[in-house]
Amino acid sequence: MSRNPDLERQAREILIRNDRGGYTVPTHGLYPFQWNWDSAFVALGFATFDRDRAWREIETLVSAQWADGMIPHIIFHQQDEGYFPGPEVWATGRTPPTSGITQPPVLATILRQLWEAEGADPACPRMRALYRACLASHRWFHTFRDPLGNGLVMVTHNWETGRDNSSEWDDALARVDTAAVGPYQRRDTGHVDAAMRPRQEEYDRYVAILQFGRECGWDHAAIADRGPFRMIDVGMSMMLLRANRDLLALAEAQGDYEAAGELRARIALSERGMDWLWNEEAGAYCSRDVITGESSGLVTNASFLAFYAGVGSEAQRARLIAALERIAGSARYLLPSLEAGSRAYDHRRYWRGPVWLVVSYMVAEGLAQQGHADWAERIREDSARLIETAGFYESFSPETGEGSGGPDFSWTAAMWLAWCGR
Ligand code: DGY
Repeated sequence: MSRNPDLERQAREILIRNDRGGYTVPTHGLYPFQWNWDSAFVALGFATFDRDRAWREIETLVSAQWADGMIPHIIFHQQDEGYFPGPEVWATGRTPPTSGITQPPVLATILRQLWEAEGADPACPRMRALYRACLASHRWFHTFRDPLGNGLVMVTHNWETGRDNSSEWDDALARVDTAAVGPYQRRDTGHVDAAMRPRQEEYDRYVAILQFGRECGWDHAAIADRGPFRMIDVGMSMMLLRANRDLLALAEAQGDYEAAGELRARIALSERGMDWLWNEEAGAYCSRDVITGESSGLVTNASFLAFYAGVGSEAQRARLIAALERIAGSARYLLPSLEAGSRAYDHRRYWRGPVWLVVSYMVAEGLAQQGHADWAERIREDSARLIETAGFYESFSPETGEGSGGPDFSWTAAMWLAWCGR
């Protein structure tokens, strides 16, 4: 049952309009290709009215998986001059062209949901093929992105986190040398208000990190060793732990005991390792710089993914709930990507304050699963009201509820269909 049949219809129409044949663009204009974690969430939306199309979204995504296991963050299925950096800038030499970095590993969790919704048949061929792709992708993370050997996830570009301009990356980005970047033309600010996007000096740094990867020939071991930006991301660490739990369920269902043993060991490692991110002063898990060892000390929406990942002592969880209470005191709509009053907070600027429904969804799922149904419901209700008030925007101001970024956004529509509009 939908809480609003008209919005239900609009949400479906957005997915259908953004469908380019087997994959869905996040929004027309601003993001004209296939993005990794966008597609995973979009599949949840499609699954509510077209299950076959949901599977295809993910199958198209993994068809561009690299031989080393990485699932790239963008697949450039067709030419489009309206986006920078396009395939010629990444120069990864792939067919179809892709970027050279990855994005948050939510796929295994969503695969499990699709499969369970269809009756959880262990012999399901579509699940089995995607399971193997997810396993290879998780092994890629374990091989190339766990420099401390503690089961957490290192990112080598802030774009990998999906939370592109979160203030968590500011100090690490400030050390990136932009002297050799050269001229380039941004396209994003031609589509949406520049006040809702990263600043120019930040963009230069994003491009410099990209150029480093390209100069390494996208050798992931070299980038992991020497890259100019290396952070342990709290968001991806939590999402990979959760995804490993879901992949384990799929491994067990198929009797893949070898992989199940490997996944159990990874899960135990990450559960123990997560304390490396705990910041006692902030009372939260915070992203931390691999090069300097410094914690960002910032409480972001990703900090609350601890519930989704199923980590934290009783005392740690109590502090997280206290942080949520504090944030609820200053934000009209939960869950802001950064707490008001934090350095660089800006209620309209991308990941420095706005509410992003996919993160809100994962946080709410985790809260509900860990016995905090009241908070889960508050986040779900606020999310629905944002769509009802502003429409299907990329993100929303936690203060005014106004939409930020691109309109008719696929993953926002998917979140209405699969979650907050139900
Ligand atoms: C962008 O271009 O802003 C994207 O978020 C990168 O993935």
